[in-house]
Amino acid sequence: MRDQIARITEEAQAAIDAAPATPALEDVRIKYLGRKAELPNLLRGVAALEPDQRAAVGKAANEARRALEDAIERKAQALAASELRRRLAKDRVDVTLPADPRPATGRLHLITQTQREIEDVFVGLGFNVAEGPEVETVYYNFDALNHAPTHPSRLLTDTFYVKPAGDIFDPNAVLLRVHTSPVQVRAMEAQPPPIYIVMPGRVYRPDSDATHSPQFHQVEGLAVDTDITLGDLQGTLLAFARAIFGEERQVRLRPHFFPFTEPSVEVDVSCFNCRQGVAADGERCSLCKGTAWIEILGAGMVDPNVLDYVRENGYDPEQVQGFAFGMGIERIAMLKHGVPDLRLLYDNDVRFLEQFG
Ligand code: DAH
Repeated sequence: MRDQIARITEEAQAAIDAAPATPALEDVRIKYLGRKAELPNLLRGVAALEPDQRAAVGKAANEARRALEDAIERKAQALAASELRRRLAKDRVDVTLPADPRPATGRLHLITQTQREIEDVFVGLGFNVAEGPEVETVYYNFDALNHAPTHPSRLLTDTFYVKPAGDIFDPNAVLLRVHTSPVQVRAMEAQPPPIYIVMPGRVYRPDSDATHSPQFHQVEGLAVDTDITLGDLQGTLLAFARAIFGEERQVRLRPHFFPFTEPSVEVDVSCFNCRQGVAADGERCSLCKGTAWIEILGAGMVDPNVLDYVRENGYDPEQVQGFAFGMGIERIAMLKHGVPDLRLLYDNDVRFLEQFG
Protein backbone atom coordinates (compact mmCIF):
# COMPACT_ATOMS: atom_id res chain seq x y z
CA MET A 1 0.00 0.00 0.00
CA ARG A 2 2.90 2.30 0.75
CA ASP A 3 4.24 1.68 -2.76
CA GLN A 4 0.84 2.64 -4.11
CA ILE A 5 0.89 5.89 -2.10
CA ALA A 6 4.38 6.69 -3.38
CA ARG A 7 3.34 6.01 -6.99
CA ILE A 8 0.20 8.14 -6.72
CA THR A 9 2.19 10.95 -5.09
CA GLU A 10 4.83 10.89 -7.80
CA GLU A 11 2.25 10.82 -10.57
CA ALA A 12 0.21 13.60 -9.00
CA GLN A 13 3.31 15.78 -8.47
CA ALA A 14 4.24 15.39 -12.14
CA ALA A 15 0.70 16.32 -13.17
CA ILE A 16 0.79 19.40 -10.89
CA ASP A 17 4.11 20.51 -12.34
CA ALA A 18 2.82 20.07 -15.87
CA ALA A 19 -0.51 21.91 -15.35
CA PRO A 20 -0.33 24.85 -17.79
CA ALA A 21 -3.22 26.91 -16.35
CA THR A 22 -5.69 27.21 -13.48
CA PRO A 23 -8.48 25.05 -15.04
CA ALA A 24 -5.99 22.24 -15.81
CA LEU A 25 -4.71 22.40 -12.25
CA GLU A 26 -8.28 22.10 -10.98
CA ASP A 27 -8.67 18.92 -13.08
CA VAL A 28 -5.49 17.56 -11.46
CA ARG A 29 -6.89 18.35 -8.01
CA ILE A 30 -10.13 16.53 -8.73
CA LYS A 31 -8.29 13.60 -10.24
CA TYR A 32 -5.95 13.06 -7.27
CA LEU A 33 -7.80 14.51 -4.28
CA GLY A 34 -11.44 14.52 -5.36
CA ARG A 35 -14.09 12.35 -3.79
CA LYS A 36 -13.64 9.56 -6.31
CA ALA A 37 -9.84 9.80 -6.42
CA GLU A 38 -7.42 6.97 -5.62
CA LEU A 39 -5.72 8.44 -2.58
CA PRO A 40 -8.86 9.27 -0.54
CA ASN A 41 -10.17 5.81 -1.42
CA LEU A 42 -6.95 4.29 -0.22
CA LEU A 43 -7.34 6.21 3.06
CA ARG A 44 -10.77 4.72 3.47
CA GLY A 45 -9.19 1.26 3.00
CA VAL A 46 -6.77 1.85 5.89
CA ALA A 47 -9.46 0.75 8.32
CA ALA A 48 -9.31 -2.75 6.84
CA LEU A 49 -5.57 -3.17 7.51
CA GLU A 50 -3.93 -5.05 10.25
CA PRO A 51 -3.89 -2.89 13.39
CA ASP A 52 -0.04 -2.77 13.51
CA GLN A 53 0.07 -1.37 9.96
CA ARG A 54 -2.87 0.96 10.24
CA ALA A 55 -1.12 3.84 11.96
CA ALA A 56 1.95 3.89 9.73
CA VAL A 57 0.04 3.57 6.45
CA GLY A 58 -2.63 6.05 7.56
CA LYS A 59 0.07 8.55 8.49
CA ALA A 60 1.86 8.08 5.17
CA ALA A 61 -1.40 8.51 3.23
CA ASN A 62 -2.34 11.62 5.21
CA GLU A 63 1.08 13.15 4.73
CA ALA A 64 0.91 12.38 1.04
CA ARG A 65 -2.47 14.08 0.80
CA ARG A 66 -1.27 17.19 2.66
CA ALA A 67 1.85 17.37 0.53
CA LEU A 68 -0.27 17.27 -2.63
CA GLU A 69 -2.66 19.90 -1.25
CA ASP A 70 0.30 22.17 -0.49
CA ALA A 71 1.84 21.54 -3.90
CA ILE A 72 -1.46 22.33 -5.59
CA GLU A 73 -1.88 25.51 -3.52
CA ARG A 74 1.63 26.72 -4.39
CA LYS A 75 1.12 25.95 -8.05
CA ALA A 76 -2.30 27.68 -7.97
CA GLN A 77 -0.71 30.86 -6.62
CA ALA A 78 2.08 30.77 -9.18
CA LEU A 79 -0.41 30.25 -12.03
CA ALA A 80 -2.70 33.02 -10.74
CA ALA A 81 0.22 35.44 -10.54
CA SER A 82 1.49 34.70 -14.03
CA GLU A 83 -2.04 34.79 -15.47
CA LEU A 84 -2.65 38.18 -13.84
CA ARG A 85 0.63 39.45 -15.22
CA ARG A 86 -0.32 38.28 -18.69
CA ARG A 87 -3.79 39.84 -18.44
CA LEU A 88 -2.39 43.19 -17.30
CA ALA A 89 0.14 43.20 -20.10
CA LYS A 90 -2.60 42.44 -22.60
CA ASP A 91 -5.00 45.07 -21.23
CA ARG A 92 -2.38 47.77 -21.10
CA VAL A 93 -3.61 51.06 -22.62
CA ASP A 94 -1.10 53.21 -24.44
CA VAL A 95 -2.27 56.67 -23.43
CA THR A 96 0.16 58.24 -25.86
CA LEU A 97 -1.65 56.86 -28.90
CA PRO A 98 -3.64 59.47 -30.84
CA ALA A 99 -7.37 59.40 -30.19
CA ASP A 100 -9.56 57.87 -32.86
CA PRO A 101 -11.38 59.82 -34.15
CA ARG A 102 -8.97 62.62 -33.49
CA PRO A 103 -10.54 65.36 -31.37
CA ALA A 104 -10.67 68.77 -33.00
CA THR A 105 -7.68 70.81 -31.89
CA GLY A 106 -7.65 74.57 -31.63
CA ARG A 107 -5.41 76.91 -33.56
CA LEU A 108 -4.04 80.38 -33.18
CA HIS A 109 -6.24 83.18 -34.44
CA LEU A 110 -5.16 84.60 -37.78
CA ILE A 111 -4.26 87.91 -36.12
CA THR A 112 -2.01 86.17 -33.59
CA GLN A 113 -0.46 84.05 -36.34
CA THR A 114 0.24 87.13 -38.43
CA GLN A 115 1.65 89.05 -35.47
CA ARG A 116 4.05 86.20 -34.70
CA GLU A 117 5.02 85.89 -38.35
CA ILE A 118 5.87 89.59 -38.48
CA GLU A 119 7.80 89.37 -35.19
CA ASP A 120 9.75 86.38 -36.51
CA VAL A 121 10.84 88.26 -39.61
CA PHE A 122 12.20 91.16 -37.58
CA VAL A 123 13.76 88.96 -34.91
CA GLY A 124 15.55 87.26 -37.81
CA LEU A 125 16.88 90.70 -38.82
CA GLY A 126 18.25 91.33 -35.30
CA PHE A 127 15.33 93.21 -33.73
CA ASN A 128 13.97 92.61 -30.22
CA VAL A 129 10.28 92.59 -29.26
CA ALA A 130 8.87 95.07 -26.70
CA GLU A 131 5.42 96.01 -25.48
CA GLY A 132 3.81 99.05 -23.88
CA PRO A 133 0.53 99.98 -22.16
CA GLU A 134 -2.73 100.21 -24.09
CA VAL A 135 -4.02 102.90 -21.72
CA GLU A 136 -1.64 105.74 -22.36
CA THR A 137 -1.04 109.37 -21.48
CA VAL A 138 -1.35 112.25 -23.93
CA TYR A 139 2.34 112.86 -23.31
CA TYR A 140 3.47 109.53 -24.81
CA ASN A 141 0.66 109.18 -27.34
CA PHE A 142 0.99 112.71 -28.80
CA ASP A 143 3.38 115.23 -27.19
CA ALA A 144 6.61 113.22 -27.14
CA LEU A 145 5.84 112.10 -30.68
CA ASN A 146 5.91 115.71 -31.84
CA HIS A 147 2.17 116.05 -32.50
CA ALA A 148 1.15 119.70 -32.78
CA PRO A 149 -1.57 120.73 -30.30
CA THR A 150 -3.89 121.16 -33.25
CA HIS A 151 -3.38 117.67 -34.66
CA PRO A 152 -6.86 116.34 -35.52
CA SER A 153 -6.33 112.91 -33.91
CA ARG A 154 -6.27 114.66 -30.51
CA LEU A 155 -9.95 115.48 -30.87
CA LEU A 156 -12.55 113.74 -28.70
CA THR A 157 -14.20 112.52 -31.90
CA ASP A 158 -10.99 110.85 -33.11
CA THR A 159 -9.74 109.28 -29.90
CA PHE A 160 -11.13 107.43 -26.89
CA TYR A 161 -10.29 109.43 -23.78
CA VAL A 162 -10.39 107.66 -20.44
CA LYS A 163 -9.77 110.77 -18.38
CA PRO A 164 -9.56 114.14 -20.15
CA ALA A 165 -7.92 115.63 -17.00
CA GLY A 166 -8.84 119.26 -17.44
CA ASP A 167 -8.46 119.28 -21.22
CA ILE A 168 -7.12 117.05 -23.96
CA PHE A 169 -3.91 119.11 -24.22
CA ASP A 170 -2.97 118.22 -20.65
CA PRO A 171 0.00 115.82 -21.04
CA ASN A 172 -1.39 113.79 -18.13
CA ALA A 173 -4.76 113.20 -19.78
CA VAL A 174 -5.35 109.47 -20.21
CA LEU A 175 -6.58 107.76 -23.36
CA LEU A 176 -6.64 104.46 -25.21
CA ARG A 177 -3.54 104.69 -27.39
CA VAL A 178 -4.33 105.44 -31.03
CA HIS A 179 -1.15 103.77 -32.26
CA THR A 180 1.82 101.73 -31.00
CA SER A 181 4.18 104.67 -31.64
CA PRO A 182 4.24 105.77 -27.95
CA VAL A 183 6.13 102.54 -27.18
CA GLN A 184 9.01 104.02 -29.23
CA VAL A 185 9.44 106.72 -26.60
CA ARG A 186 9.01 104.34 -23.66
CA ALA A 187 11.55 101.92 -25.17
CA MET A 188 14.11 104.69 -25.67
CA GLU A 189 13.59 105.84 -22.08
CA ALA A 190 14.27 102.28 -20.94
CA GLN A 191 17.36 101.61 -23.03
CA PRO A 192 20.18 103.71 -24.55
CA PRO A 193 21.09 103.37 -28.24
CA PRO A 194 21.69 101.31 -30.27
CA ILE A 195 18.12 100.05 -30.24
CA TYR A 196 16.41 97.73 -32.73
CA ILE A 197 12.91 96.78 -31.64
CA VAL A 198 9.45 95.89 -32.89
CA MET A 199 6.44 96.65 -30.70
CA PRO A 200 3.18 94.79 -31.35
CA GLY A 201 -0.11 95.54 -29.63
CA ARG A 202 -3.72 96.69 -29.62
CA VAL A 203 -4.72 100.21 -30.55
CA TYR A 204 -8.04 102.08 -30.47
CA ARG A 205 -9.86 104.53 -32.71
CA PRO A 206 -13.58 105.36 -33.15
CA ASP A 207 -13.77 103.89 -36.68
CA SER A 208 -15.93 101.00 -37.81
CA ASP A 209 -16.43 99.68 -41.33
CA ALA A 210 -15.22 96.90 -43.65
CA THR A 211 -11.60 97.95 -43.26
CA HIS A 212 -11.65 99.61 -39.82
CA SER A 213 -12.41 98.34 -36.36
CA PRO A 214 -12.49 100.43 -33.13
CA GLN A 215 -9.88 98.08 -31.73
CA PHE A 216 -7.16 96.73 -33.98
CA HIS A 217 -3.50 95.74 -33.92
CA GLN A 218 -0.29 97.34 -35.05
CA VAL A 219 3.37 96.46 -35.11
CA GLU A 220 5.68 99.41 -34.58
CA GLY A 221 9.34 99.29 -35.53
CA LEU A 222 12.26 101.42 -34.35
CA ALA A 223 15.97 101.35 -35.14
CA VAL A 224 18.26 104.01 -33.66
CA ASP A 225 22.03 103.84 -34.05
CA THR A 226 24.84 105.86 -35.58
CA ASP A 227 24.74 106.13 -39.38
CA ILE A 228 21.19 104.91 -39.94
CA THR A 229 19.88 106.05 -43.31
CA LEU A 230 16.69 105.93 -45.34
CA GLY A 231 18.45 103.18 -47.33
CA ASP A 232 18.52 101.03 -44.18
CA LEU A 233 14.78 101.58 -43.79
CA GLN A 234 14.13 100.61 -47.39
CA GLY A 235 16.34 97.51 -47.20
CA THR A 236 14.75 96.39 -43.95
CA LEU A 237 11.22 96.80 -45.31
CA LEU A 238 12.15 95.07 -48.57
CA ALA A 239 13.35 92.05 -46.57
CA PHE A 240 10.12 92.20 -44.57
CA ALA A 241 7.89 92.46 -47.67
CA ARG A 242 9.64 89.53 -49.34
CA ALA A 243 9.41 87.35 -46.23
CA ILE A 244 5.68 87.99 -45.90
CA PHE A 245 4.47 88.39 -49.49
CA GLY A 246 7.06 86.45 -51.53
CA GLU A 247 10.60 86.74 -52.83
CA GLU A 248 9.50 88.46 -56.05
CA ARG A 249 8.26 91.56 -54.22
CA GLN A 250 9.58 95.10 -54.57
CA VAL A 251 8.89 98.03 -52.29
CA ARG A 252 8.60 101.71 -53.09
CA LEU A 253 8.58 104.70 -50.77
CA ARG A 254 6.17 107.59 -51.40
CA PRO A 255 6.55 110.94 -49.62
CA HIS A 256 4.01 111.44 -46.84
CA PHE A 257 3.68 113.18 -43.48
CA PHE A 258 3.80 111.90 -39.92
CA PRO A 259 4.56 114.20 -36.98
CA PHE A 260 7.24 111.90 -35.56
CA THR A 261 9.26 111.20 -38.70
CA GLU A 262 11.13 113.49 -41.10
CA PRO A 263 11.14 112.67 -43.91
CA SER A 264 8.03 110.51 -43.75
CA VAL A 265 6.99 107.93 -46.30
CA GLU A 266 4.22 105.56 -47.10
CA VAL A 267 5.50 102.20 -48.20
CA ASP A 268 3.95 100.17 -51.02
CA VAL A 269 4.65 96.55 -51.93
CA SER A 270 4.40 95.42 -55.54
CA CYS A 271 1.07 93.66 -56.11
CA PHE A 272 1.23 89.89 -55.83
CA ASN A 273 -2.17 89.36 -57.45
CA CYS A 274 -1.50 90.69 -60.95
CA ARG A 275 0.98 91.78 -63.60
CA GLN A 276 1.30 95.56 -63.87
CA GLY A 277 -2.23 96.01 -62.54
CA VAL A 278 -3.83 93.50 -64.95
CA ALA A 279 -5.29 90.39 -63.33
CA ALA A 280 -5.01 86.88 -64.81
CA ASP A 281 -8.50 87.24 -66.40
CA GLY A 282 -7.37 90.37 -68.27
CA GLU A 283 -9.45 92.66 -66.04
CA ARG A 284 -8.15 95.45 -63.84
CA CYS A 285 -6.67 93.90 -60.66
CA SER A 286 -9.13 94.37 -57.82
CA LEU A 287 -6.49 94.09 -55.07
CA CYS A 288 -4.25 96.96 -56.19
CA LYS A 289 -7.03 98.72 -58.18
CA GLY A 290 -4.89 98.42 -61.27
CA THR A 291 -2.00 100.44 -59.80
CA ALA A 292 0.36 97.43 -59.37
CA TRP A 293 1.22 98.67 -55.86
CA ILE A 294 -0.38 98.11 -52.45
CA GLU A 295 0.15 100.37 -49.47
CA ILE A 296 1.32 98.38 -46.43
CA LEU A 297 2.64 100.81 -43.85
CA GLY A 298 3.86 104.23 -42.77
CA ALA A 299 7.49 104.94 -41.96
CA GLY A 300 10.24 107.51 -41.94
CA MET A 301 13.40 108.77 -40.29
CA VAL A 302 12.85 109.49 -36.59
CA ASP A 303 12.25 113.23 -36.22
CA PRO A 304 15.09 114.86 -34.19
CA ASN A 305 12.35 116.51 -32.12
CA VAL A 306 11.34 113.05 -30.88
CA LEU A 307 14.93 112.17 -29.99
CA ASP A 308 15.11 115.46 -28.12
CA TYR A 309 12.46 114.16 -25.70
CA VAL A 310 14.77 111.27 -24.77
CA ARG A 311 18.07 113.13 -25.10
CA GLU A 312 18.84 112.48 -21.44
CA ASN A 313 18.55 108.76 -22.06
CA GLY A 314 21.45 108.90 -24.51
CA TYR A 315 19.63 109.94 -27.70
CA ASP A 316 21.48 113.08 -28.79
CA PRO A 317 19.95 113.93 -32.21
CA GLU A 318 23.41 115.18 -33.30
CA GLN A 319 24.93 111.77 -32.56
CA VAL A 320 22.30 109.20 -33.43
CA GLN A 321 19.54 108.86 -35.95
CA GLY A 322 17.03 106.20 -36.77
CA PHE A 323 14.09 104.98 -38.73
CA ALA A 324 10.62 103.98 -37.57
CA PHE A 325 7.65 102.28 -39.13
CA GLY A 326 4.16 101.21 -38.18
CA MET A 327 1.78 98.74 -39.81
CA GLY A 328 -1.68 97.33 -39.18
CA ILE A 329 -1.61 93.60 -38.47
CA GLU A 330 -5.18 93.13 -39.74
CA ARG A 331 -4.26 94.83 -43.00
CA ILE A 332 -1.24 92.55 -43.53
CA ALA A 333 -3.36 89.46 -42.71
CA MET A 334 -6.19 90.56 -45.03
CA LEU A 335 -3.84 91.28 -47.92
CA LYS A 336 -1.88 88.09 -47.50
CA HIS A 337 -4.92 85.82 -47.18
CA GLY A 338 -7.43 87.68 -49.35
CA VAL A 339 -9.82 88.42 -46.46
CA PRO A 340 -12.45 90.77 -47.90
CA ASP A 341 -13.90 92.24 -44.68
CA LEU A 342 -11.98 93.03 -41.51
CA ARG A 343 -15.01 92.19 -39.37
CA LEU A 344 -14.59 88.52 -40.30
CA LEU A 345 -11.53 88.56 -38.06
CA TYR A 346 -13.70 89.42 -35.05
CA ASP A 347 -16.89 87.42 -35.69
CA ASN A 348 -15.16 84.25 -34.48
CA ASP A 349 -17.07 82.06 -36.90
CA VAL A 350 -15.11 78.78 -36.80
CA ARG A 351 -15.80 78.18 -40.50
CA PHE A 352 -13.71 81.26 -41.15
CA LEU A 353 -11.08 80.69 -38.46
CA GLU A 354 -10.51 77.04 -39.46
CA GLN A 355 -9.13 78.12 -42.82
CA PHE A 356 -5.94 79.43 -41.28
CA GLY A 357 -3.20 77.39 -39.66
N1 DAH B 1 1.53 105.63 -36.02
C1 DAH B 1 1.15 105.65 -37.40
C2 DAH B 1 -0.34 105.34 -37.52
O1 DAH B 1 -0.89 104.80 -36.62
C3 DAH B 1 1.91 104.64 -38.19
C4 DAH B 1 3.34 105.01 -38.33
C5 DAH B 1 3.75 105.79 -39.38
C6 DAH B 1 4.25 104.59 -37.40
C7 DAH B 1 5.07 106.15 -39.50
C8 DAH B 1 5.60 104.93 -37.52
C9 DAH B 1 5.98 105.72 -38.60
O2 DAH B 1 6.52 104.56 -36.65
O3 DAH B 1 7.29 106.07 -38.70
O4 DAH B 1 -0.93 105.66 -38.53
